[in-house]
Amino acid sequence: MKMIQAVIRTERFKTVEEALDKSGYSSLTTTMVMGRGHQKGLQVGSTHYTTLPKQMVWVVVEDDQVEKAVDIIATAAETGNIGDGKIFVLNVADVIRIRTRERGASAI
Ligand SMILES: Nc1ncnc2c1ncn2[C@@H]1O[C@H](COP(=O)(O)OP(=O)(O)OP(=O)(O)O)[C@@H](O)[C@H]1O
Ligand SMILES: [Mg+2]
Repeated sequence: MKMIQAVIRTERFKTVEEALDKSGYSSLTTTMVMGRGHQKGLQVGSTHYTTLPKQMVWVVVEDDQVEKAVDIIATAAETGNIGDGKIFVLNVADVIRIRTRERGASAI
């Protein structure tokens, strides 16, 4: 299992959420974060913002679903401009559904 951790534009979250849901990836975790990429924030006049608001989205999927889920997120999040975001893929050791104590893929 893998954890897909996507940092996306806050205004693209709804689109990403809907695209994932449409393809059967209905469970996710999200929060607003502050971050910076290659451009080290943003210069507006004399003000330099060292970090900018982004939306973080986490989705856990089975290994063979990673490419599909990544593509859905990237397609829905993309505007073609700098700051579109980044996707990280992490290994997940186990998943436990608390209510039933199911483990692994069947608990996703
Ligand atoms: N190497 C990194 N480590 C941790 N977080 C990162 C990293 N790169 C990007 N991020 C996160 O992703 C957000 C969006 O990054 P961003 O899309 O600006 O990446 P980039 O590498 O600068 O690409 P681009 O040139 O398209 O802007 C950042 O605000 C930050 O929260
Ligand atoms: Mg950037």
